[in-house]
Amino acid sequence: MQRRAQISTLLFTLLLSTALVPVFAQMSKKAASGKDFDATVAEQAKRYLEEGRDTFRFDTFGSEDFWGGKLKLHEAIAGEKAGGVGPGLSPQVALELGLKVDVNAIPKDVAEALSKGEVDLKDPASTLVLLKSNAVVGVTGFFDEQGKTLRSVGIQCALCHSTVDDSYAPGIGHRLDGWPNRDLNIGAIVVLAPDLTAFVDMLQVTEGEVKKALEAWGPGKFDALLNLDGKAFRPDGKTAATLNPAAFGLAGVNNHTWTGAWGTVSYWNAYVGNLEMHGKGVFYDPRLDNAKKYPVAGRTKQGHKQDKEDRITAKLPALHFYQLALPTPKPPEGAFDSAAAENGKALFNDKAKCATCHVPPIFTEPGWNLHTAEEIGIDDFQAMRSPDERYRTAPLRALWDVEKVHKGGFYHDGRFATLQDVVEHYDRHLGLKLSDKEKSDLVEYLKSI
Ligand code: HEC
Ligand code: HEC
Repeated sequence: MQRRAQISTLLFTLLLSTALVPVFAQMSKKAASGKDFDATVAEQAKRYLEEGRDTFRFDTFGSEDFWGGKLKLHEAIAGEKAGGVGPGLSPQVALELGLKVDVNAIPKDVAEALSKGEVDLKDPASTLVLLKSNAVVGVTGFFDEQGKTLRSVGIQCALCHSTVDDSYAPGIGHRLDGWPNRDLNIGAIVVLAPDLTAFVDMLQVTEGEVKKALEAWGPGKFDALLNLDGKAFRPDGKTAATLNPAAFGLAGVNNHTWTGAWGTVSYWNAYVGNLEMHGKGVFYDPRLDNAKKYPVAGRTKQGHKQDKEDRITAKLPALHFYQLALPTPKPPEGAFDSAAAENGKALFNDKAKCATCHVPPIFTEPGWNLHTAEEIGIDDFQAMRSPDERYRTAPLRALWDVEKVHKGGFYHDGRFATLQDVVEHYDRHLGLKLSDKEKSDLVEYLKSI
């Protein structure tokens, strides 16, 4: 009996193993193609990087139908002499408004003329030359067939999230993607538009009120939630716009924007492409139907955008990938005192309690990185505009750079002018009792991040 059982087990095993032969053969074949799979992954990474960069820099998503078609912004740029309206936008004024010029895109003859001082920077016609060569960062001009008359303009992510290294002249240089353009006075640029009806209709306010809201933004600020809740000003009378954040160093960071709780970087990209840039696409977020919190979005059904043509969705994967690839710039030599920074690091991680929220090396919490206004000791106006009614632990990045990245101050509205002010705030709010030396050591460490 026992033997028979043994034999049948043997037979069964044999049968099973023969049955498995083809499966094993298949598996080993798959294992062999794993090598190709690695190559496929690498190929996709390269393609995503290139496509994403292109989208970030050059894709208008069809937004020219809004900026040109509705606001007629191109007419104000061209000026009356070139078939538009008003004086036109000279390169000098464009640079004063914070627009940047990509030196690599300037045609050779124009560059030569520029260096000889032969380009009239006060002439709007020179702006058209720059637009035609696609040299204005984040803005694309659409010209008629003869290439003479500016017919429309569209905008890109790079308008607000890139700057240049000023290598040629202030405002003219090589692109720095992901670096916020804290010089850009987007409100003052939009106000130039001859027709603000689109905003008047959306917000259901007067044109005067639209202008007042836009003019209050100032350099480096934009209000990405005005189109949802219509709140242009805070209770203290200051603009509700926030500073342009850096779009680099975001890999590993969960919640995005100053208040978080919207979604991933990819959510926000879709949000901005559809609802801020007014590109053509599809956007879904039923939270925006909450008419009490988001009266404008509720009325205008922004959480259910379904354009016939979709020029955004297919670009989201590569765009997401490119953004996550943007590195945080390292502090240059001599940007901080290393010995003091060593002490400051110990304080950051222990006595000053900073690392409880700003967890190195991502400097925000792995997980749900949001806090109430009381926790960080500030007013809750901006937090209350977001779905979770909190502030996101800002992932600390390039704090040493107050010329570009942190120009305009720290925190969402720049309320703290310096890192010293930030540290004084936490010292008071968290009752840290740091000595003057400890405070300055902590500042030196922050400058090393
Ligand atoms: C008109 C200026 C403007 C344009 C154009 C713009 N953004 Fe932004 N972006 C902002 C501002 C301002 C915020 C902060 C919003 C907030 O916190 O409420 C922001 C936030 C972000 C963030 C979150 C950063 C962080 O720290 O988590 C990402 C990512 C981002 N934008 C990507 C993009 C992409 C991609 C595009 C193009 C599809 C784009 N933005 C177009 C102004 C702009
Ligand atoms: C309870 C969590 C928490 C603690 C503790 C904390 N922070 Fe923050 N930190 C935040 C949040 C949230 C913000 C974003 C504030 C805003 O959006 O206005 C922030 C913003 C900052 C900023 C501004 C970043 C920017 O891009 O403008 C700096 C700098 C900073 N914190 C440094 C520190 C230091 C130094 C400490 C320790 C003394 C510390 N934080 C402790 C949550 C915290």
